[in-house]
Amino acid sequence: MKRLIVILGLLSNLISSGQEVNITPKPVSLTIREGSFAITAKTKIYLSNRELTNSALFLKKYLQEFYGMTLESSSKESPGDIELILTSGQKMADNEDAYSLQAKTQHVRIYGKTPRSVFYGIQTLIQLLPTEHTNTIQIPAVDVSDYPRFSYRGLMLDCGRHFFSVDFIKKYIDFIALHKMNTFHWHLTEDQGWRIEIRKYPRLTATGSCRNGTIIGHHPGIGNDSIRNCGFYSQQQIRDVVKYAADRYINIIPEIEMPGHSSAAIAAYPQLSCFPDENTQISKNVAWEGSDSGKQVQQSWGVYKDVYCPSDFTFTFLENVLDEVMELFPSKYIHIGGDECPKDFWKRSSFCQDLIKQKGLKNEEALQSYFIQRIEKYINSRGRELIGWDEILEGGLAPNATVMSWRGEQGGIDAAKQQHHVIMTPGAYVYLDHSQSKHDDSLTIGGFLPLDKVYSYEPVPKELNSEEAKYILGAQANIWTEYMAYPSKVEYMIFPRLTALSEVLWSPKGAKSWENFQKRLPAIEKRYDLWQVSYFRGQSN
Ligand code: ACM
Repeated sequence: MKRLIVILGLLSNLISSGQEVNITPKPVSLTIREGSFAITAKTKIYLSNRELTNSALFLKKYLQEFYGMTLESSSKESPGDIELILTSGQKMADNEDAYSLQAKTQHVRIYGKTPRSVFYGIQTLIQLLPTEHTNTIQIPAVDVSDYPRFSYRGLMLDCGRHFFSVDFIKKYIDFIALHKMNTFHWHLTEDQGWRIEIRKYPRLTATGSCRNGTIIGHHPGIGNDSIRNCGFYSQQQIRDVVKYAADRYINIIPEIEMPGHSSAAIAAYPQLSCFPDENTQISKNVAWEGSDSGKQVQQSWGVYKDVYCPSDFTFTFLENVLDEVMELFPSKYIHIGGDECPKDFWKRSSFCQDLIKQKGLKNEEALQSYFIQRIEKYINSRGRELIGWDEILEGGLAPNATVMSWRGEQGGIDAAKQQHHVIMTPGAYVYLDHSQSKHDDSLTIGGFLPLDKVYSYEPVPKELNSEEAKYILGAQANIWTEYMAYPSKVEYMIFPRLTALSEVLWSPKGAKSWENFQKRLPAIEKRYDLWQVSYFRGQSN
């Protein structure tokens, strides 16, 4: 059968020479050819430029880990090799992340305009590898041309509610890379734990990174486990993780929450509160472990009223913290939270009321806006940009802020209409802490977000015209970990919903097909099995 089988767009679960072609997220164009390419221990990886080393290393590590095969790199082309080629010459889409992959019987060639785009080609090549254990590795012959739909493709992890080891953070970064996503949003501070070493304020980690226990079961819980729970990342570890991510073309956006969700910092430095001498408020129905006097790191979930006081002490503290954060993270964006900040303490604080009068502010929402704008000026003065959750719209948006729309799509719509950049993270579609099934057998925060709903998500709200739509940079899935205390639970919650989201973010809108995605799901699951990760495989209903 010499005839070329050309398949574009919708069909991508196809058989060539007995091998399935199963690429997710679905590429812009895929042509399946006759024949296959064999990878053996003699196969060399040719690099046209040294800048492609990251791509070669990722492929080598994958082949070593999952197939026990060690390949060598070469700076000389030779027959039968896998060639990574940096070029602007090939006919490729006008997108700096565009790559093309040609797998023929004689060789595999991946062309990219940038080292990053070649890395995306490597992810496609990985998906052509068999998921069954075989003696030989055969790659089906294909032509792929591809580029992403959105420039921002993110995944967040809350390391405040539960701490995760550096080893798991690296694994998580690999999951992001394998899905052709490009941003890891690292939520590092919370009421229940401060997770980043700050040299100037050692008590943040000495005191703020530990809680004396954790509620058992769903909030408010049926008791307390009475286990001291601690963890933070040293600056050395953070540098290592930032490099690990950069080698995979993943930017890490650190989040330092303010003015709310700050109990752990206040436990370390009570002067950050408007009422430093008041004890931390503990709900009557929460079982508490250890001392309940003074300022405490929280042991249950929710939103707490003791928040940063907008004092000079607090601003100096936050600027010093941000200085160290910006030194560690090269990210253009710094996330400052801004969500869920109750105004109760500000309302009864004479300091806050005087500040409101002195600055001519309308109310406490305007005081929050003043807080965020002051921090934004500081971040901008250091050449960075601020991201905040959509509450930063209340009381007036900081002039250059990017908004993460989480309480729905309206925050994103409003911000885009005000010509601010937006990252869509609406709870109803991309909060992967919600249950995957109506009869979920594991504890979750609640809600119901089945796979097809994630797949159906369209990040550009229909309320926006084409000019306004340009402000939507992309979308992100959020993983809040109140009910995820260990890595396999996180994996169970993200897979396969993350894979569905990766297609929403990468593939052309017109190429999306739930039917076709479902057909690919068994092959996707085989890949999870190869990686030995946990995933949800039940029915949604
Ligand atoms: C959020 O989920 N509180 C941003």
